Amino acid sequence: MRRVPTEGGDALSVPDSTTGDSRPSKGSPVDPTAVDLSVTIPTRRGGWHWDHPILPASGTFGYGEEFEPFIPPGTFAAIVPKSISREPRKGNPPPRCIETPAGLLNSIGLQNPGLEVFKERYLPMLRCYGAPILVNVVGKTVEDYQHVVTALHEEEGIAGFELNISCPNVKEGLQFGLDPEATGALVRAVRSVTDAPLVAKLTPNVTDIVEQAQAAEQGGADVVSLVNTLRGMAIDWRTGRSRIGTPTGGLSGPAIRPVALRMVYEVATAVSIPVCGIGGISDPEHVLEFLVVGASIVQVGTHLYRDPACLLGWLERLRELLAAEGYESSAQVQGSFST
Ligand SMILES: Cc1cc2nc3c(=O)[nH]c(=O)nc-3n(C[C@H](O)[C@H](O)[C@H](O)COP(=O)(O)O)c2cc1C
Repeated sequence: MRRVPTEGGDALSVPDSTTGDSRPSKGSPVDPTAVDLSVTIPTRRGGWHWDHPILPASGTFGYGEEFEPFIPPGTFAAIVPKSISREPRKGNPPPRCIETPAGLLNSIGLQNPGLEVFKERYLPMLRCYGAPILVNVVGKTVEDYQHVVTALHEEEGIAGFELNISCPNVKEGLQFGLDPEATGALVRAVRSVTDAPLVAKLTPNVTDIVEQAQAAEQGGADVVSLVNTLRGMAIDWRTGRSRIGTPTGGLSGPAIRPVALRMVYEVATAVSIPVCGIGGISDPEHVLEFLVVGASIVQVGTHLYRDPACLLGWLERLRELLAAEGYESSAQVQGSFST
């Protein structure tokens, strides 16, 4: 990364390659088993040091238990459970999910058992999986976020918190993610009560996601993750009604990948903190696409419904893909995009 001046006079951090510098040189094909997928993410409390860069996306992995028959949940670099709020939430009326031509439209509405049940029932179970836990938090007020974080931040096994300020399916919560000032204020308020790593999860439903990312960085986020779902609709024209229980829902899956890639690219060139890429990843090649445009880590969501055990094959495939191009590590392609 290097700093370049902008028209406004502020310096931006950009990967060298986005300014036209050449990609790291590739060697001759290497032994796939020797390819290093490990990542080190500088965060508070000593950073994250993981064997590979792939996490499950919140809300698509439950609390891990449904995945046990398919894959040891701890195979993921870290586990991101479903959003947790201070009080339990019932969520939206059904139907809550509908398949679209290239994705999924959902209107879950952040159903979750609330902080106390999470702490008593799910957290001990999640710890048994052996992977760090990145707790995804949602709230109606700043105090809600602070409350959940302070109730959990000294708990064993917690790697940090992903602040969901981006869900399109509830009336509250998204408001924080739509306005840079509110985003910055929320992150700053949570930062004031904890030294735990904080990830700000951003919505794509804004005109300029870079403003949100910069506000989160200035507020004290260690990482930004993007994107959450894009607002969409699915209509039955015969009845004139929505095909899901609410008029609008959140679109995820392959359809949103080009949008997510573009946003990750824009954000990665504009902030100095690491970026977690999310949106439509359904193949190991997609993981590499996100790394190339500047993501340091990624999350896989909707694709887990199709292939819950995909990660097992993906790690091997990632090594093969990189090795075939002469790369010895995934770090060599990270941020290597050139125009
Ligand atoms: C059914 C469903 C439920 C979700 N629930 C949450 C949630 O509770 N919290 C959250 O931050 N994101 C939630 N998301 C958004 C995902 O974490 C992810 O950001 C989004 O689906 C884009 O990634 P994908 O295209 O790989 O699914 C949900 C997505 C789906 C499909």
